Amino acid sequence: MKRVRIAVVGAGVAGFSSAVCIAEALPSCSVTLVADRFSPDTTSDGAAGIVLAAEFPGTSLSHLKNIYQCWCNTELWVRLHTAKEPRQSLMKHACFSPSWQIFKEVPANKKPFWSEFVIGFRIMTDGELRRFPHHKFGHAFTTVRCDCSSYLPWLQNRLVEKRKVNDLQELFNNFDLIVNCSGLGSKSLVGDTHVYPVRGQVLKVEAPWLNHFIRDGDGGTYIYPGIRSVTLGGTRQEGDWRLHVDRAEAEGILERCSRLEPSLRKAKVLGEWVGLRPSRKNPRVEKEVVQVQGHRVPVVHNYGHGGSGVTLAWGTALDVMELVREHLGEKLLQARLLPPS
Ligand SMILES: Cc1cc2nc3c(=O)[nH]c(=O)nc-3n(C[C@H](O)[C@H](O)[C@H](O)COP(=O)(O)OP(=O)(O)OC[C@H]3O[C@@H](n4cnc5c(N)ncnc54)[C@H](O)[C@@H]3O)c2cc1C
Ligand SMILES: *[C@@H]1O[C@H](CO)[C@@H](O)[C@H](O)[C@H]1NC(C)=O
Repeated sequence: MKRVRIAVVGAGVAGFSSAVCIAEALPSCSVTLVADRFSPDTTSDGAAGIVLAAEFPGTSLSHLKNIYQCWCNTELWVRLHTAKEPRQSLMKHACFSPSWQIFKEVPANKKPFWSEFVIGFRIMTDGELRRFPHHKFGHAFTTVRCDCSSYLPWLQNRLVEKRKVNDLQELFNNFDLIVNCSGLGSKSLVGDTHVYPVRGQVLKVEAPWLNHFIRDGDGGTYIYPGIRSVTLGGTRQEGDWRLHVDRAEAEGILERCSRLEPSLRKAKVLGEWVGLRPSRKNPRVEKEVVQVQGHRVPVVHNYGHGGSGVTLAWGTALDVMELVREHLGEKLLQARLLPPS
């Protein structure tokens, strides 16, 4: 059979994960990654990179559990990567992160649905909570933190072909299948009106003495120690497209984080960053056949991961790979159904 030409649109964590999954699992495909922006200029590059489940409004708990079972448990994340690569190789970009998620009020549900998907989940002890006098309750667990600014180039090296395009339409003439991992997409194209930005501003500081990640349960304030720096956040502003750093917000973030962890007052600020989370009621992972200028081209969508793109990237990439595999099966079937010539 002729090799199936696949274009993956998008060079963020969703695009690269999908491209690598397809290229490595389906050798009958040739995969080309196309995007208008590559690392270090994607949203994924600045993400704090914590693998942590989020809730999607409108999705039932049992469905969510299913999704997370497949998409984001830490074990899956690590196992997938270590299957083909030596562990040390991934561990340059990802590390285990012991975590404290703290709450000002005791939540109604003390044990969240995702507790079984992280490592060593337990309720924080009174001794641990003593360092947070304004908080009454907390979760302690270990998860994975991935540094996308070095992880994306690492994934990129596992792929052969990549190129920049500005015109999506030209793709339809040159490829048999398109995988759409365009995140928030481009505002200039008529697109999915269900996708919207949730703006997030962060600071990167030098504080190598910090080990635990600390996250206020409302998600508003967090301190995420990584391999090279500590990410301090944050903001969650729906529908806000501003990409520049807001001074007042930066000071607010530093103040809120320092109140949780006073040693941060002496940390050196290394950088500031704003990203737009590509948000949607639920991420869209499905196949569609698009009609363009007489061509019928199958498109597998994989976008709208919101504030959880790093978390969901491997799981959704596997689903994408399955959808592509189904397509190959269909093609094979069609070929068999043709009368012999
Ligand atoms: C402050 C902040 C903190 C975060 N922290 C975390 C975290 O701790 N854990 C976590 O899991 N997630 C986190 N996220 C969320 C995560 O960053 C996103 O969910 C993820 O980056 C989305 O990845 P993506 O590949 O879908 O999109 P992107 O990284 O935005 O990539 C989109 C790609 O598509 C390309 N593209 C778009 N339109 C076109 C077009 N028309 N033609 C060609 N190319 C196109 C772009 O050039 C780009 O290459 C955070 C986000 C922010 C802002
Ligand atoms: C890809 O997804 C974006 C949303 O990010 C949408 O606007 C666009 O129309 C989709 N492209 C294709 C080819 O379906």
